[in-house]
Amino acid sequence: MNRINLPFLLVLLLPVIGSAQKFDGLALTPPMGWNSWNTFATDIDEQLVREVADAFVELGYKDAGYTYIVLDDGWMAKERDENGNLVPDPDKFPGGMKALADYVHERGLKFGLYNCAGNKTCAGYPGSRGHEYQDAQLYAEWEVDYLKYDWCNTENLDAKGAYQTMRDAIYAAGRPMVFSICEWGQHDPWKWGSEMGHLWRTSGDIINCWDCEIGHGSWSSWGIWKIIRMREDIRQYTGPGHWNDFDMMEVGNGMTAGEDRVHFAMWAMLASPLIMGNDVRINDKETIKTLTNKDVIAVNQDSLGIMGFKFSDEGNIEIWAKPLADGDWAVAFINMGRTSAKIEFDWSKHKIEDAMHNRWVDPDKDQYKITDLFNHVDFGTTENNLNASIAPHDILMTRLEQIKK
Ligand code: GLA
Repeated sequence: MNRINLPFLLVLLLPVIGSAQKFDGLALTPPMGWNSWNTFATDIDEQLVREVADAFVELGYKDAGYTYIVLDDGWMAKERDENGNLVPDPDKFPGGMKALADYVHERGLKFGLYNCAGNKTCAGYPGSRGHEYQDAQLYAEWEVDYLKYDWCNTENLDAKGAYQTMRDAIYAAGRPMVFSICEWGQHDPWKWGSEMGHLWRTSGDIINCWDCEIGHGSWSSWGIWKIIRMREDIRQYTGPGHWNDFDMMEVGNGMTAGEDRVHFAMWAMLASPLIMGNDVRINDKETIKTLTNKDVIAVNQDSLGIMGFKFSDEGNIEIWAKPLADGDWAVAFINMGRTSAKIEFDWSKHKIEDAMHNRWVDPDKDQYKITDLFNHVDFGTTENNLNASIAPHDILMTRLEQIKK
């Protein structure tokens, strides 16, 4: 009779059990890239991915720092094969995922896929439950760099445990992958997510509107400001390697140019991942200008990784602040109203304080040079009032650079 040699088995499994963890050092600044869902839902194929990769290079997205191209739900065939392996939909992806990942990698970019902790994905494709190690192994063979992992059809599953299983499976497969937790904020993922992955969704799905809620029976989609308000108080959980994810962006998907600027700037202020959700193949100058604004991106990618906070309201103008490396700050003035608004901001009367991170803008002690990050003009220093007019649903976003005294 064959007897299981328990000590031998334990020695074999020790590297897996003993050291399971997430891959560190992968997302020291918020991940930047593109995801197919917001525009294409399940209507995706390999030609789209190739065209998106080309657009990254040709339209300046790669230069601006966008790296990950992520296929969301809908890339699989409806059934696993006879060995239980996932199969890319043969009509949509006839060349297979490895060849597609190669195409993306050859352009200096990274490739991501989606699956789900449940039995089925949200759109009804095979989920990873019970197949976690097998699926992670397959992604590693395809040279996948990023996995978004959703939360549909997870009856009786413990969220933290389910994400831990997939984290361990990725680690065992041996290929570093950014692990994107998409659990919609239902089980406070900010409290345990940093151990399991690199980013976690903080809410239900985003939709392309300023402040709406669209109900779908048991769940809702949320406009930009609904998501921000829902989660402005989880600042302490975000930082290098572990990010609050305010969802894939809707910039370029139908809001006004001003609203798009506010949305983009706020994702930068919140240190949220910058994952584009528009059709980036379209050569729309205004959208490209917003999404590739390197000064705004620098605020998002700042090495401190501090999430910004609301400082105050002045009439219809909301003021947000974010401490940056080297004593700099980003300060954003958002016109929430429907008519244009004037701001006359006297810095000397406002000490901006981030007690959580022990940082201050104290105009009595320090002086700062002010630049407008969207219009690229100089606004003098904090010695003078900042006078500006801001269009409805638009923003004045500034960077304060400390002038050494
Ligand atoms: C959920 C997620 C979305 C998207 C869809 C795919 O709703 O929150 O971001 O991945 O599933 O079905």
